[in-house]
Amino acid sequence: MISEANFSFVADLLRRETAMLCETGKEYLVEARLLPLARAAGDADVDRYVDRLRTDAAERARAVDALTINETSWFRDLAPYQAFTEVMLPHLLQTRAHRRHLDIWSAACSSGQEAYSLCMLLDENLPAGWTATIHATDVSPSMLERVQAGRYSQVEMNRGMPATRLVSYFTRVGNEWEVAAKLRSMVTTKQVNLALPFPPSATYDVVFLRNVLIYFDLDTKRDILRRVNARVARDGFLLLGSTETTLDLDDSWVRETAGRVVIHRPRPDGPHGTAAAAAPRAITTPTTLTATGA
Ligand SMILES: C[S@@+](CC[C@H](N)C(=O)[O-])C[C@H]1O[C@@H](n2cnc3c(N)ncnc32)[C@H](O)[C@@H]1O
Repeated sequence: MISEANFSFVADLLRRETAMLCETGKEYLVEARLLPLARAAGDADVDRYVDRLRTDAAERARAVDALTINETSWFRDLAPYQAFTEVMLPHLLQTRAHRRHLDIWSAACSSGQEAYSLCMLLDENLPAGWTATIHATDVSPSMLERVQAGRYSQVEMNRGMPATRLVSYFTRVGNEWEVAAKLRSMVTTKQVNLALPFPPSATYDVVFLRNVLIYFDLDTKRDILRRVNARVARDGFLLLGSTETTLDLDDSWVRETAGRVVIHRPRPDGPHGTAAAAAPRAITTPTTLTATGA
């Protein structure tokens, strides 16, 4: 098993590069992720490989990439996607009628299941003449390559892809399933480290920032939420993972429930908003949003 000193070197590296916490007890994970890289580099074990990391910047980047946790699935948790279709989309179709375009940020997109799940819902629900761009970002270059390739194994497809959508949106290529070109053309990719200042961008109508804050310490979560707030349109929406919240972290959000999910909206009098520019609080959609303290 990896030595204590080398584990601590790797944990510091991961934290410095991605802000992800890698606490004692995760030695097995580090060992499992780095062993294939050690073998590929010709090192006898992970400890020798970590010695290499101390002086080899390119190998360090490969190691960090391999250590990111990319767990994801299609339509993950279902309820956020239901809220997207039933609450957010009807609202945006009214308020964006002048430009007939939506910009959606899939921050920490992993291998793209979140981005392409959204594409399918948009394809099924956007009226003719409307367009949408899903801006898929992640710190991991290899994940972004996967998003661009848009190819998934059968095991990955089994994780949440309904048969009807498999038939409508995928083609079998060898052992994999390739997502339709019309969905791929809706997605752009870019490497964005959430822990660093974001590159310039316009504001997004919807931000999916799901299942990534859990890996960060409190100050990092707070800082990211504050900076994300500036990137969400004043009448836009933020969705977090089911175990994540802004509560007690960042008070620049209004929390509203839609079915089983909490939707976050920038507070009109928050640091990046003006009450005058704020959206009306009442949303006339099939599902009613309810202000919540949760
Ligand atoms: C568990 S996956 C979540 C994927 C997807 N959002 C979902 O909910 O299924 C977490 C993703 O966060 C990315 N990540 C970790 N640290 C990051 C950072 N500092 N900036 C951007 N992405 C990061 C990882 O590379 C990984 O792909």
